[in-house]
Amino acid sequence: MGKLDGKVAVVVGGGRNIGRAISLLFAKEGAKIAIFDMDEGRAAGVAEEVEAQGGECTYVIGPVQDVNSVKNMVSTVVGRLGKIDILTNCAAISDRLPMLELPDEEYLRIVDVTMHGSYYTCKYVAEQMVKQGTGGAIVNFSSGSAFRGSTSRVAYDMAKGAIVTLTMDLAVQLGPHGIRANAIAPGITGSQVGGTIAMEDRSTRNVIGGRPGLPEEQASVALFLASDDAAHIHGQTINVDAGMNVM
Ligand SMILES: NC(=O)c1ccc[n+]([C@@H]2O[C@H](COP(=O)([O-])OP(=O)(O)OC[C@H]3O[C@@H](n4cnc5c(N)ncnc54)[C@H](O)[C@@H]3O)[C@@H](O)[C@H]2O)c1
Repeated sequence: MGKLDGKVAVVVGGGRNIGRAISLLFAKEGAKIAIFDMDEGRAAGVAEEVEAQGGECTYVIGPVQDVNSVKNMVSTVVGRLGKIDILTNCAAISDRLPMLELPDEEYLRIVDVTMHGSYYTCKYVAEQMVKQGTGGAIVNFSSGSAFRGSTSRVAYDMAKGAIVTLTMDLAVQLGPHGIRANAIAPGITGSQVGGTIAMEDRSTRNVIGGRPGLPEEQASVALFLASDDAAHIHGQTINVDAGMNVM
């Protein structure tokens, strides 16, 4: 018996890295998967992988920062799979410049995708969950970079800080509907956000054990938070970073 038998899980940004690992693991645990991603090739590739391991996976393509695409995703998933029980929010993009060099349009684009995108999916999936009346679980993705200053990023860090706050508000406002909201703050995991720098080439300074994390090591915590094992956990952001935050 799987931990998510009978559940439908939306994996936003399920086309790569952590979202891909979540799609594969949640499907193994019995959930039907709906990937929402802007990249059709990536989403279709992961859907094939899920099906190759015996699972069920559909996908919807669209930009997460576009509220109408998000509303369309919710109605399409409900049309195809009947309901939504779990939402995981993995889509994000990052800046790689200090504030004084960051063009304002780039700042707005990053905050739009990384902060507004998660807000819209939480809002419209929660609306659907409340309508269903059977509760649900939301797992957002913050980042270790929400909690420290950086020499080369600002928009992403701000947006990831906002995800921590959003998750607390969701927990309080949706808790009465039986919907739990929590977040994960990963450290260095698999490939770079929005990039393809391979795991072995990423810095492992300040990481206990001296290696970057695997996407599967984020997925297993997402599974815990999405399942009834975490029934008593609300509004938390859990560091999954090999101790980076304590060093
Ligand atoms: N990888 C890390 O080291 C790391 C570290 C800390 C936090 N995180 C967080 O974990 C989450 C997953 O990170 P990842 O490394 O797997 O990301 P990734 O960049 O590898 O994958 C993100 C996925 O989201 C999709 N996406 C990007 N922009 C989108 C948009 N506008 N609309 C719809 N889909 C979009 C991409 O196509 C891709 O499939 C992110 O929220 C990230 O901030 C990752």
